[in-house]
Amino acid sequence: MTSATSPTNPPPLDAPPLLSVITPTYNEAGNILVLLENLERALAEVTYEIIVVDDDSPDGTWQLAEDHAAAHPLVRVLRRFHDKGLSPAVLAGMELAEGRTLAVIDADGQHDESILAAMARRVDSGEADVCVGSRNSDGGSYGDWSRGRRLVSWVATLIARLFLRVPLTDPMSGYFVISREAFEDAAPDVNPQGFKILLEFLGRRPELSVAEMGYTFRSRTAGETKLNSSVIRSYLLAVFDLRFGHMVKPQLLLYTLVGLAGVGVNFGAIVVGEAVGLGSITTGSEAIDPLAIPVVVGLLAQLVMTFTANNWFTFWENRYQGSRLLVGFGLFAVISAYGLMIQFAVAKWFDTLNLGGGLLSEGVAAALHQLIAILVAFQASYFLNVNLTWRRRERDEALRAVG
Ligand code: GDD
Ligand code: MN
Repeated sequence: MTSATSPTNPPPLDAPPLLSVITPTYNEAGNILVLLENLERALAEVTYEIIVVDDDSPDGTWQLAEDHAAAHPLVRVLRRFHDKGLSPAVLAGMELAEGRTLAVIDADGQHDESILAAMARRVDSGEADVCVGSRNSDGGSYGDWSRGRRLVSWVATLIARLFLRVPLTDPMSGYFVISREAFEDAAPDVNPQGFKILLEFLGRRPELSVAEMGYTFRSRTAGETKLNSSVIRSYLLAVFDLRFGHMVKPQLLLYTLVGLAGVGVNFGAIVVGEAVGLGSITTGSEAIDPLAIPVVVGLLAQLVMTFTANNWFTFWENRYQGSRLLVGFGLFAVISAYGLMIQFAVAKWFDTLNLGGGLLSEGVAAALHQLIAILVAFQASYFLNVNLTWRRRERDEALRAVG
């Protein structure tokens, strides 16, 4: 890489700094300046740059950061308007970074910046590809976290170790340093929607070597957390995607699980309806009388249950709330009815084709046709629900709803 420089060459650009610190921000107006000052103090002994990546915070975090940057040349601000979200923000900052090592740190003061320079040195010296700030290793602690939050973190750690075999005591950590080489190597494979950017890097590149440094998690000084109860769900999805994502999309898996549970609810409702004498079902070779009351009750129960579960589980990011629930349910019901029609039509069509040619008994053939029909209808309804009912809306809208 080095080349002989003749005196006539222009002076070389400043060498890349040891460390680029990326700090994602969303509504951190009460914290950002404190963070920048703390970082500047903690990094006085090393070469660094700081990149604040703000998703156009309504509270004007970007403005405060830009004003600060005007007087501090080592600070840059990236204000983003599209593709908002924590992981995309971090990746965008990393793409701008010029340091030999890249760090991610929360802007709210929860991550102890006093160990940052040491983490960067350990990566820069080649001791490890990644150094993670950990609440579980020597010298680390969860500060004043409740037992409940500690338990969640403990379970999450267990899951990551079992499924991903990552050598981390704190896989949920959002505080780490990665070498430029490791970042550039893994970045093309990283899922930008992935929830935990650290797990993305280590999950995609298990061969990366990891070091840890303990620190005490501090309480937020101002503002509020953006990561709410959906964190656990997103976490499980991210782990699933890293482990099995090449085989099946996590969202389709959730949708399928909900669908199967719905069939269970349907049968359960029919059985209960029957038991309490809501009506009678004609059995035998004749199909079930479609107007029998328990069947209708069963279908309704299935519809309500699957909509609710899909809304709060499968498609959480785009969920309906308040009066809009009715809109969502209406769409879902129409699509479900449409799916049922497809199912009947496909099954009928296969019946008329008589593919088995008498090889299969009539009952087995009918069951097989029903199964194919269900798969076709399921696929169609999944497609419509993803693209119509729960199509991606802007993150801000969802955030406002969480509000
Ligand atoms: N640009 C941008 N866009 N920044 C965001 C966004 C976003 O959509 N959402 C959150 N941030 C920023 C916040 O402003 C904060 O600086 C940082 O990302 C972490 O968000 P918090 O809302 O503070 O998350 P947390 O404290 O609940 O979660 C922390 O602890 C978890 C472990 O328990 C984070 O460090 C997580 O990464 C960590 O897993
Ligand atoms: Mn935080």
